Amino acid sequence: MEKAIIGGTGVYDAGSISEKRLVNTKYGEVEVDILNINGEEIVFLARHGKEHSVPPHLINYRANIMALKQLGIKYIYATVAVGSCNENYEPGDIVIIKDFIDFTKLRPMTFFEGKDEPVKHVDMSEPYCKKLREKFYLTARDIGLDIKGEAVYVCTEGPRFETQYEIKMYKNLEGDVVGMTNVPEVVLAKELGICYGVVGIITNWCTGIKGEIAIHDIQGALEKSKAKITEGFIKVFSS
Ligand code: HPA
Repeated sequence: MEKAIIGGTGVYDAGSISEKRLVNTKYGEVEVDILNINGEEIVFLARHGKEHSVPPHLINYRANIMALKQLGIKYIYATVAVGSCNENYEPGDIVIIKDFIDFTKLRPMTFFEGKDEPVKHVDMSEPYCKKLREKFYLTARDIGLDIKGEAVYVCTEGPRFETQYEIKMYKNLEGDVVGMTNVPEVVLAKELGICYGVVGIITNWCTGIKGEIAIHDIQGALEKSKAKITEGFIKVFSS
């Protein structure tokens, strides 16, 4: 198996499951679904667990990425739910993430810890796989999924939302969207040499941009786009 989808908030399956599998890693056990798409097996992993029971700061990112590596995965497409601090990207819009700014604080964020592991500094000049980004753009056009543009993702520690002044700062730093999960996920994939791309689903305006964060809007925005996005991932994978 070479291809995997990581589903974020609101995306807990991608249809046609042929098998569930538990993968044991040195960081913990991970449950994945194996999908059978036109005879090819694609792995699906729900980032927060199937019941959305794991908050962003407690996700076992290392176990998740190591489990995919152990299954032989070379390409990952993921979804993330994000707030927008860029007026050009509205709730309901879809963006492709092109870079990140990391404001996490407490997470195990590397496989390379010294001691038994080598000291290694992984290159971050292109954290998101260019090939996967471009392929998804083209496929999205084919299936009528409107991609609003590329976005810089700010990762916060969560699980709280941000203050108004934090959002002002992220905006000043040229962040476009804010979420709580893409770091260290993308970094760990890069450390293991897995090609990783991610699509952001804008679920709300960030704090202080336009009124309050409304949770029903978050669910509505996800409902509208998740099927089309996973359809796009599967289409790219099977092309
Ligand atoms: N902030 C941080 N994470 C998020 C948000 C937000 O506004 N919306 C969805 N995930």
